[in-house]
Amino acid sequence: MQIHQIEEKYFDEIAKVDQMIFEHKNRRTLENLKLMIQYNEDWCFCAIEDGRIVGYIFSKNLWKEWYFGPIGVLPEYQNRWIASKLIDKSLEYLKKDCNTIWLEMMPEKWNILNLYYKKWFEVCFPSIIFDFPPNYSELPCGENVFLVEKYDENLIKEIRELTKETWIDFSGDLKKIMENKWKLVIYIEKWILKWFFAQKTEISARVWWFVNKSENRNEITKELLVKLSKYLDEEAQSIRINWRNKEFINFLFSENFKIKRSVNRMVLKWYSWDYFNTSDDYVARAWRG
Ligand SMILES: CC(C)(COP(=O)(O)OP(=O)(O)OC[C@H]1O[C@@H](n2cnc3c(N)ncnc32)[C@H](O)[C@@H]1OP(=O)(O)O)[C@@H](O)C(=O)NCCC(=O)NCCS
Repeated sequence: MQIHQIEEKYFDEIAKVDQMIFEHKNRRTLENLKLMIQYNEDWCFCAIEDGRIVGYIFSKNLWKEWYFGPIGVLPEYQNRWIASKLIDKSLEYLKKDCNTIWLEMMPEKWNILNLYYKKWFEVCFPSIIFDFPPNYSELPCGENVFLVEKYDENLIKEIRELTKETWIDFSGDLKKIMENKWKLVIYIEKWILKWFFAQKTEISARVWWFVNKSENRNEITKELLVKLSKYLDEEAQSIRINWRNKEFINFLFSENFKIKRSVNRMVLKWYSWDYFNTSDDYVARAWRG
């Protein structure tokens, strides 16, 4: 078995393999695969055996944080430590300069916890997908909230500045969002950018956001969420947030958001940063390109 970096020439085959492994109704598009490796080419790998791709692993750099996965191996090649080798290869790169390496997995795939435990991942707070309350988009929102639809280099710079202390670099994702005509909702007060929410609707709602601490952050958040929900497709009226962001979770409950499902999160031992602690920050980022 050989391990190769994922390149565009493998996309067709990976899309087929991915569909077989995960039994997706729709095959990932080449565009989607391109986005998954964009800026992350060095640490996405595929396993080749008998002249065919039999497994793959993607990972995503968020500056000091790493999102690890997804990973898959064709059924007839499973239980031969191919996943284990792909994980080792990927971690070799990821561990170089970061403070967190984490992954998310569906709770119904609980038996895969065995694999991740063996690779030194530990369970931390789950992520929760909340549905927007009915008719949320009909609530009023103020004049400081804007929808940005055109790519703007300066805005990306401002967001980078705004989010500097979170140790997450949103700019790669946001650049992609804006280049692909996804929506970005921002809150500006006295010419200062205070908040942003971004989302893409093609796969499902994936949202990045950040807000500074301030007395009125709940009111501001509400306005941004209302504005965002006006532009979300009907089936994408949901938002994902990790349970460690306790204050934000409380805020969503107070607004009548309802839990739709939860997703397990695991973090690599020695690379867990503060992931076992709760946080009162209002910050999140989607985890897939
Ligand atoms: C999960 C998956 C990638 C594992 O691939 P694999 O190549 O069979 O895994 P490995 O052979 O490297 O397994 C390494 C160890 O983890 C254990 N393990 C792997 N998958 C497991 C599972 N589903 N249940 C229990 N243990 C598992 C193996 O028993 C092995 O332990 P051992 O060293 O004691 O023998 C593969 O089953 C798969 O593609 N599943 C469908 C897609 C998926 O669910 N991906 C993960 C979510 S992103």
